[in-house]
Amino acid sequence: MLPEKKLLRALAGLETQGVPLWMMRQAGRYLPEYREVRARAGGFLDLCYTPELAEEVTLQPIRRYGFDAAILFSDILVVPDALGQKVAFKEGEGPVLEPISDMAGLAALSSPSRVTAHLKPVYETVARLSKSLPPEVTLIGFAGAPWTVATYMVGGKGSPDQAAAKLWAYRAPDEFQKLIDILVEATVEHLSAQVMAGAEVIQIFDTWAGSLPELAFERFALRPMKAIRDLMQARFPGLPVIAFPRGAGAMAVRYFSETGVTGLSIDTGVSPEWARDALQVQGCVQGNLDPLLLVAGGAEMRAHALHILETLGKGPFIFNLGHGIVPQTPPEHVAELVELVKAWRP
Ligand code: CP3
Repeated sequence: MLPEKKLLRALAGLETQGVPLWMMRQAGRYLPEYREVRARAGGFLDLCYTPELAEEVTLQPIRRYGFDAAILFSDILVVPDALGQKVAFKEGEGPVLEPISDMAGLAALSSPSRVTAHLKPVYETVARLSKSLPPEVTLIGFAGAPWTVATYMVGGKGSPDQAAAKLWAYRAPDEFQKLIDILVEATVEHLSAQVMAGAEVIQIFDTWAGSLPELAFERFALRPMKAIRDLMQARFPGLPVIAFPRGAGAMAVRYFSETGVTGLSIDTGVSPEWARDALQVQGCVQGNLDPLLLVAGGAEMRAHALHILETLGKGPFIFNLGHGIVPQTPPEHVAELVELVKAWRP
């Protein structure tokens, strides 16, 4: 049976009435109604682990803008948290973890097959959403890619160059591979539980893929993505999988074909023409408006959005940003962009 929901149709390579759209980080601090719930929840992880509140903040951008997809409200770092590595989100600092940098640190992690026990509230949020979302809206589950999650686990925080994880990977690749293997297994368990609870599509965020040179990209970004995709396909045949190998540049061509993912989310550095000729011929492309254009708004935002639509809009295509919405985004600019994309026809 052919899917009816717009986003699922685009992922299946079918024609759609208008271009489907959602935005990475569509729930978050730029929305006053998010800040209100966030203040009530206490800590950020408390918000992620309280199903009623996580459901509410997932629905907020759907109510306000009528996006074609809702992305589960959670974080990529709930997986290390479930593996027993302490994760804290500090105001103005971002995530802070006790760094792991050796085999003893890996041995202290709990079993990847058991992450789902810790993450039950997340799956309850998914189950609630699959009942409360409007019928035309697609529910996206997600996880971080092993490499990106490893950069936080090894570095202990966000870093501009991912140096700690890279140095471990270069000095002792077979040791580092063990961490990647743990994360592949944990990620598949976590994603499977989301699908069983009602997620219809999954997206894998490899935010730091672009910092890896080709041979390391192949080993630590491409192969783990292929492993996750293959394991998910074996469990859930036909499940659409979107990958976001941010910064992959020309390596995205091989990444798309060799991982076998259904859709490829492109960052702002990829030209729409190149994406059309090199990537869209392989499947559905998603992207890639600069989130700062959404902060600026106005004629410049509209011109860039139209350029993307005119180049990629014949499909298969999902309109999105090249990275997540930033907190200083005026909500009315999002409304203006949504209106423009919804009205556009090839
Ligand atoms: O609408 C959605 O997209 C909500 C779900 C979501 C969040 N984070 C909520 C969040 C998703 C899909 C993510 C993904 C995520 N988290 C990524 C990959 C995508 C990307 O943006 O590159 C990464 C690298 C993280 C790790 C992370 N989480 C960082 C580095 C930070 C701090 C920086 C920041 O943006 O605040 C977070 C915190 C976080 N995750 C917030 C939200 C809404 C802000 C926390 C708050 O409310 O205080």
